[in-house]
Amino acid sequence: MPGDFHPIAVLDSGVGGLSILREIRRQLPEENFLYFADQGHVPYGPRPLTEIQSFVRGIARFFLLHDARVIVLACNAASAAGLHDARRTFPQTPFIGMEPAIKPAAERTRKGVIGVITTKATYQGELFASAVDRFANDIEVVTQVCPEFVTLVEAGRLDGEEVHQAVQSYLTPLIEAEIDELVLGCTHFPFLTPIIRAVIGEQVEIVDPGPAVAQQTKRVVSQYPNRSRSTGSVTYFTSGDASIFHEIAQQLLDESIDAQQVVKVRWVDGDVVEFLD
Ligand code: DGL
Repeated sequence: MPGDFHPIAVLDSGVGGLSILREIRRQLPEENFLYFADQGHVPYGPRPLTEIQSFVRGIARFFLLHDARVIVLACNAASAAGLHDARRTFPQTPFIGMEPAIKPAAERTRKGVIGVITTKATYQGELFASAVDRFANDIEVVTQVCPEFVTLVEAGRLDGEEVHQAVQSYLTPLIEAEIDELVLGCTHFPFLTPIIRAVIGEQVEIVDPGPAVAQQTKRVVSQYPNRSRSTGSVTYFTSGDASIFHEIAQQLLDESIDAQQVVKVRWVDGDVVEFLD
């Protein structure tokens, strides 16, 4: 991969961040991208925040070796655990992070009850508590941790009886609480939107943070213009199995990806290196 592309770099524990990459590419189609799926460590959700922090630092170092000019944490768990730490560790690098979109949901709710589905790391992080404090003080926030959704999306299982049942059982408490806004607090979840919609009904607004994160990325990127060639290229890295990533990414993005665009990497002593057979 050429070193003069000054790409926008996007990371997630796995394929979830593709829901964010898709939105960013829609808004910035000319840009070059790197996408990192840390599938050797997925899921991040159940892990201690300090461990996730060290993953984010390792991936950021790898991105900077590849001349990344902006880094997007397209992962709520990575942002909850590692955004502040990454900004402190790499003060020259602009980082874009995310938090569950509690603000728009709290502003819109008519019933005063919103639901948030997320993972444990995000729920335990400071960003979550502070978003509830700042924006949802006077309403009820019903939170549900849904680790199984991450596993389903990683396996490309987006429909069928078993998926339906899992979604039904996680969402039942939220339906019973009569929420009218449902915040997707994990970037894997937008890929389950059709089945979530089927279970939750038409009356509940589903809040996907992708477009807002893409807007924010566009704003930040405009302050760091690319002085190199922009070709709209995407290179994908995975610390898991490259052929499985290739297959699932094509399914989720609904586009064909050249196998050459997917590069296997591995972790060595806290750093990411490209895999050589
Ligand atoms: N996609 C992720 C998020 O937004 C991480 C899910 C996980 O690995 O547990 O939080």
